[in-house]
Amino acid sequence: MRLMEEVTIRRMEGHDLGRVMDIERRSYSMPWTEATFRGLFRRTDADLFVAETLELEVTAYAVFWAVLDQGELGNVAVAPEWRGRGISRRLLDAVVRRARERGVRELFLEVRVSNNTARQLYQSYGFREVGRRRNYYMEPVEDALVMRKDLDPDRPESTSLD
Ligand SMILES: CC(C)(COP(=O)(O)OP(=O)(O)OC[C@H]1O[C@@H](n2cnc3c(N)ncnc32)[C@H](O)[C@@H]1OP(=O)(O)O)[C@@H](O)C(=O)NCCC(=O)NCCS
Repeated sequence: MRLMEEVTIRRMEGHDLGRVMDIERRSYSMPWTEATFRGLFRRTDADLFVAETLELEVTAYAVFWAVLDQGELGNVAVAPEWRGRGISRRLLDAVVRRARERGVRELFLEVRVSNNTARQLYQSYGFREVGRRRNYYMEPVEDALVMRKDLDPDRPESTSLD
C-alpha cells in the first residue's frame, strides 16, 4: 500500500473541479454542485484544499471557512479507491493549521448520524459531539450530529501544508 508521504496537500484550483465533482458525486447522496465550489472560491473566508499524488492525481479534498474565531469544516471527501490510507487525516492537518493561522479557536462540523466512518475519524481527531440538528439532511432524511474541536494553540498538528 502506498505511503501517505507521497501525497501532497495544496490549494484547490479551478482546473481541479472536474475531478473534485467526480469524487463529490461518488461520495454523497446529495452532492454539492460545481457552482457551490465556484462560489466558495470567491469567498475570502473560505479555504479549499486537495490531496494530490506524485502523478498529480487528485484523490481527495477538504473545504473550510471561518467567521471570527469560529471555523466550519464544510466538506471532506476521499475518492473511494483511495480511502483507508490516512489521506483524510492529512487534509484535516492542513485545515487545522490554516484555522490556527486565521485565529480560529473552535472548529465545528456536521455529520450524518449513520456515517460511522466519518464519526470515527472525527472522534479520533479530537472532535466531540456538542449537539444534534433534527432532520438536517435529505435523501435520506436524517439528523446531523454537531461536533466541535477546540484548537489549542500550544499543540500544533503533526503535518504541515506542503
Ligand atoms: C470519511 C472519509 C473522509 C475518511 O477518509 P479516509 O482517507 O479513508 O480516512 P483515513 O484513512 O484518513 O482514516 C482516518 C480515520 O478514519 C476512521 N476510518 C477510516 N475508514 C474507516 C472505516 N472504514 N471504518 C471505520 N473507521 C474508519 C478511522 O478512525 C481512521 O483512523 P485509523 O486508521 O487510525 O483507524 C472517507 O471515508 C470519505 O470520503 N467518505 C465519504 C464522504 C464523507 O462521508 N465525508 C464526511 C462527511 S461529514
